Amino acid sequence: MTRVILWLTTLLLALGCWAQENKKPVIKQVPPSPTDASSGQQMFKAYCASCHGLQGLGNGPAVAALKKTPSNLTLLAKNNGGKFPALKVANSIQGDNIAAHGSLDMPVWGDVFRSMSRSEAETRMRINNLTKYIEGLQVK
Ligand code: HEC
Repeated sequence: MTRVILWLTTLLLALGCWAQENKKPVIKQVPPSPTDASSGQQMFKAYCASCHGLQGLGNGPAVAALKKTPSNLTLLAKNNGGKFPALKVANSIQGDNIAAHGSLDMPVWGDVFRSMSRSEAETRMRINNLTKYIEGLQVK
């Protein structure tokens, strides 16, 4: 009898481990690492690539844990009649149109950048340089 119980316990434990491993992935929140405000590329790699992918295609490693698929950031100009929507992109990064988007899957970067910048000018510089970097990712 004890043997059967022991067996069952082992089986349940094994099942528990299996279930644990097959759980939907969750995003671990870590404090943002400091970056150079003048490098859009460095900031994109550090803060955006986890969701949007290194090339901005919307296929970063965190995608599986998100409710909404991150936008493909290389098609923004193409989907806007060939003109890169710089202001809209800057606003998306800043977090101004969260209400319109109705999604908090994308972090509000304006607040994050404000917390790591010495001045409002540095915060603007980060958002502008990221916007310019994304402009450079556009497909022709
Ligand atoms: C945790 C995942 C995540 C991270 C990190 C992230 N994004 Fe996003 N992003 C999203 C999702 C999801 C959407 C789509 C939002 C929606 O439709 O509600 C989005 C949308 C956007 C859009 C709007 C695109 C459009 O179609 O108008 C821009 C621009 C953008 N992200 C830029 C960035 C930049 C720049 C960074 C880094 C500073 C970043 N994102 C980091 C998940 C993320």
